[in-house]
Amino acid sequence: MDRASPRSGVETLRWRDGRLEMIDQRVLPAEVVYRDYATAAGVAEGIRSMVVRGAPAIGCAAAYGVALDALRLAGAPRAQFDGAMQEAFAVLARSRPTAVNLFWALKRMRTVSGAMSPASSASIAERLLAEAHEILAEDIRINRAMGRNGAALLADGMTVLTHCNAGALATAGYGTALGVIRSAIESGKRISVIADETRPFLQGARLTAWELAQDAIPVTLITDNMAGHLMKCGEIQAVVVGTDRVAANGDVANKIGTYMVAVLAHRHAIPFYVACPISTIDPDMPNGDAIPIEERDANEVTGYRGVRWAPEGIKVRNPAFDVTPAELVTALITERGVVASPDQSNIAALLKSAPPVDSA
Ligand code: MRU
Repeated sequence: MDRASPRSGVETLRWRDGRLEMIDQRVLPAEVVYRDYATAAGVAEGIRSMVVRGAPAIGCAAAYGVALDALRLAGAPRAQFDGAMQEAFAVLARSRPTAVNLFWALKRMRTVSGAMSPASSASIAERLLAEAHEILAEDIRINRAMGRNGAALLADGMTVLTHCNAGALATAGYGTALGVIRSAIESGKRISVIADETRPFLQGARLTAWELAQDAIPVTLITDNMAGHLMKCGEIQAVVVGTDRVAANGDVANKIGTYMVAVLAHRHAIPFYVACPISTIDPDMPNGDAIPIEERDANEVTGYRGVRWAPEGIKVRNPAFDVTPAELVTALITERGVVASPDQSNIAALLKSAPPVDSA
């Protein structure tokens, strides 16, 4: 079952000839190559090794990972199918710990197959693939709705700082933080972007700068330690970032360095916005202290692509995410609307509110 989806910009993931293809984000922008995946274990390795990254894109990839194993086992008796699917879910759940969208997507896929208990392996597999397609298409619709909601917060002529990559490459398309910027530009506003380099994996330098340049959106690259200086000089009027998990009290986990940007924005009275699909809110996580923070390989800090600059044997820390306390967040931008000064009660109200009519 192949199905085309409406997109903007680059195609991060796509379904082709019964396989999942993902653009290899480790080698962008030097090379634009797609890798193809036929198993859940393969997709899990693609997530772990950062072929695909960004919370919503990880969720989409995981959903396709489940569908791939289900399709491979479509001819198997149910007992064998069920056992193998448990392993598929488990291998995907172990791939990365911080982005809640991964677990959100797996739960959704598990609910779909659970609701079909008496069905054949083949019909469950077909239904799981349809659900993966729907998660991908829905992600783009959500990003566009979030973009429309957030665009009103950006005024004509603003320069907006973003950290990491929360764009089309981090989602099924259009982006969350970059979707807000795209939407403001589509509404006729002149917006330019300052992209933090985002050490150590360089998502800002390699991915955000490339993605925005592809769409001819004005972008200027800085190293992470330049943000404070530019804010002090009045060169930044707003910050918009994405998130990997928002706790029930509004604390925001995002790429390492985000907390530093939020503190700086507060110091300079610059609004700090977080573009956050509802699927990224974790109501079971009371506050940010409990969010699991991935610790990645020391090699990412001691050098890059085979060039080593740090002394051999040096002790290294490499937490991939940090948590920004809710009090530093001016507003969460979601597909259901903008939540100013997020806290326990307005987040609970948001989660209870009805989803918007799909207008994309
Ligand atoms: O380690 P990464 O590249 O997966 O981290 C990505 C981020 O931190 C993004 O800002 C976040 O996932 C939001 S993407 C819309």
